[in-house]
Amino acid sequence: MTLPTPAVSGADPHSLAIVGAQVVVLDELRELDIGIADGVVQELAPTLQQTYAQTLHAKGLVALPGLIDTQVHLREPGLEHKEDLATGSNAAAAGGVTTFLEMPNTRPPTTTQAAWHDKVQRAIGRSRVDFAFYAGATADNADELRGLEGRPGHAGTKIFMGSSTGTLLVADDAGVRTHLRAGRMRVAVHAEDETRLRALQRAVPATRPHDHPERRDAEAAAIAVRRLLDLCIETMRPVHVLHVTSADECELLRQHPGRRLATAEVTPQHLLLSAPDCYDRLGNLAVMNPPIRTEDHRQALWAALRDGTLTLIGTDHAPHTLAEKARPYPDCPSGMPGLQTLLPLLLDQADKGTCSLAEIARWTAQRPAQAFQIQGKGGLVPGLDGDVVLCDLALDAELTPDRVQSRCGWSPFLGQRLRGWPRYTVVRGQIVFAEGQLVGAPIGRPVKLGKPLAIMPGR
Ligand code: DOR
Repeated sequence: MTLPTPAVSGADPHSLAIVGAQVVVLDELRELDIGIADGVVQELAPTLQQTYAQTLHAKGLVALPGLIDTQVHLREPGLEHKEDLATGSNAAAAGGVTTFLEMPNTRPPTTTQAAWHDKVQRAIGRSRVDFAFYAGATADNADELRGLEGRPGHAGTKIFMGSSTGTLLVADDAGVRTHLRAGRMRVAVHAEDETRLRALQRAVPATRPHDHPERRDAEAAAIAVRRLLDLCIETMRPVHVLHVTSADECELLRQHPGRRLATAEVTPQHLLLSAPDCYDRLGNLAVMNPPIRTEDHRQALWAALRDGTLTLIGTDHAPHTLAEKARPYPDCPSGMPGLQTLLPLLLDQADKGTCSLAEIARWTAQRPAQAFQIQGKGGLVPGLDGDVVLCDLALDAELTPDRVQSRCGWSPFLGQRLRGWPRYTVVRGQIVFAEGQLVGAPIGRPVKLGKPLAIMPGR
């Protein structure tokens, strides 16, 4: 528990000492104390030298850098019955996610500087964790979006090459090229080929959720990724391929010369669920774009994540209400929530031996910060922001509805027992979640992204 101690040296009344945790540093666990003042890690040492206003005794817990989720849909403005910036950020805090990058397919979509600015203003004072917002590409807004680059809270441009939830779409090479030529930041892309999606949707009957992976097949994703990587070479613009779902895309991301300019993301649900089982068990709840595919694709995604072909894990947190999801396929919306379960699911995988704690830190904090050059984020290192999640690896508990912070109120993983849960989440030295409860006022603020490295290490 948190024990306030009266004597404080230094000016920061919120300074925090985290004492006795096992810290994940450089591929190993070491018992170190973490001293945070003025929002920044000051010391990481067996014994702290400075004095801090508060002490958090963390013996028996493991400290990871606060997670960064590079793909979330928080539905505000316009779709707040599914989620809003406050409830979505609560899910983040409860899940150890201390920074999120939010998607532009709200209502209205974030396609102008004014709409982007409105989102930043809405989040200040209501988000519990730090944030940035993508702006959505349209056929004619490349110059407008370029003007946002460098502003705190701007995550860059998002292009939907295939249509999904909402109206955003830039389907043709000419449109994508125009956006890749405008600006410097990494461009995030939903890569499914619209022409093929339309042909499939005409050809393949939609009778049940099991049809979804055929109506948006792996070929549609691979065609779009190939087109995108060709355009990367032509424009020399770094991109981020969102939610890779297939062995075919992984092969392209291994072989295509444009891979060097690309980072790539995989979701926990594509790593942990597979067809047809997920559709048998979850029905429409498992429907998302691009779809959950067969076991061979799932295995290929793990292999690609382990060998660095896939850069990082992002959730594509896409809350819809259960009533909306209950509409008969294909009228149900696509997407599932994921912010709060990202870390427990991965800790449970670490317990099962599928991945290591160091890999979790790499895939959910270091690489996201590096790929998007998120300033001050990505590691437990003196000089970086004091974003920490303290985890209890021995806590074995079922994911029950009462734990769910997202307004949508469900998760595809409800009812599962998971071993390893976040117990405390700390944002820039302030505790925002402790022992199952949200703590304090929302203190999230906009993060600043920089120009990406032309080529990420390891590409
Ligand atoms: O399944 C999805 N849901 N994929 C997307 O690309 C969008 C998301 C949403 O916003 O619902």
